[in-house]
Amino acid sequence: MNNATTIIGSAASAAQKMVRDTTFSPRFYTTDFDAMNKICIEPVRSAWNAMMADYERDHNREFFQRDASFADEVLEHDKKMSPELKQEMLDFLITTLTSELSGCILYNEIKRKVSNPDIKQLMGYMARDEARHASFINASLKDYGLGINIGEIKRKKHYTYFKPKYIFYATYLSEKIGYARYIKIFRQLEAFPERRFHPIFRWFQQWCDDEFRHGESMALILRANPELLRGHNLLWIRFFLIAVYATMYVRDHMRPALKQAMGLHPTEYDFAVFRITNQIIKQCLPILPDLDNPAFKRNLDRLSYCAQRADRGAASGGLLGKFAKCFWSVAGAAVFVRMYCLPMQSNQLPEVTLLQPAW
Ligand SMILES: [Fe+2]
Ligand SMILES: [Fe+2]
Repeated sequence: MNNATTIIGSAASAAQKMVRDTTFSPRFYTTDFDAMNKICIEPVRSAWNAMMADYERDHNREFFQRDASFADEVLEHDKKMSPELKQEMLDFLITTLTSELSGCILYNEIKRKVSNPDIKQLMGYMARDEARHASFINASLKDYGLGINIGEIKRKKHYTYFKPKYIFYATYLSEKIGYARYIKIFRQLEAFPERRFHPIFRWFQQWCDDEFRHGESMALILRANPELLRGHNLLWIRFFLIAVYATMYVRDHMRPALKQAMGLHPTEYDFAVFRITNQIIKQCLPILPDLDNPAFKRNLDRLSYCAQRADRGAASGGLLGKFAKCFWSVAGAAVFVRMYCLPMQSNQLPEVTLLQPAW
């Protein structure tokens, strides 16, 4: 597991893990706010207005509150957790908190800096949801004495610049894959409640409904600006598809104990998530990864292997460790290029964009 490099045992080590940027860790972003102002959503106006009304109703207003048994459940499971599972659970909470914060900060920043009223309104709602998600996870870290000072992370973490269209592709895909990940876990633990080793998973269904809605908003933006879905932009869509799918695969294979404790196998779980995501993204992407191409899985496994070897190199330190990290990172990049060149399935976009979270 990648935590060989960092044992999370204190609030400082948790914060350090959040601040550090690695190839597969979530990042913080900034964008071009003037270009954001030029985004037009008129072609999807009626669906957009209905969605804004739905955000306004705020179904999950009271949802992210811990119930009376939450703390007892944490304590009870904590006694039974193996050290490996506990480290992976902490790593999971920290990575998820980083992703939620990444969204929250970016959406807030866009809301503050754009004058486009549609984008401003949407970003306000999305930031509201992500702030709730982030503080819910942070409360769980506090149970272990690892509460994060969010202001400090905001100040210390590096911000990566992304053009608005990259923000739309990346946000769309990560919200949708996030939905698929959470609903798959929720369904598994609904079927096998004895495997639920942390109460936070009880919140996942309504939680991922928020993420689903965020993804729907991005789908509307993309469909309203069809130039973002053709020509050379298809190369960018291809890039983000491979990057998002591969990142999840590599990360999950670095935390096998977490999935095993849920009764899931990382590879099967990831492919189930890919299949759900592929079904959803048919709503707006003209190309899809071909999950049945054996080369797709083969390269994911190679990439995962390279990432683990690079990680081990970094952990061992010294000149030799540095060399190993470099070597395996370059090898991983070559696998990524190979994955990028695999043929994709083409997809005819449907008349109606919006979907229900029905998985
Ligand atoms: Fe979220
Ligand atoms: Fe989200």
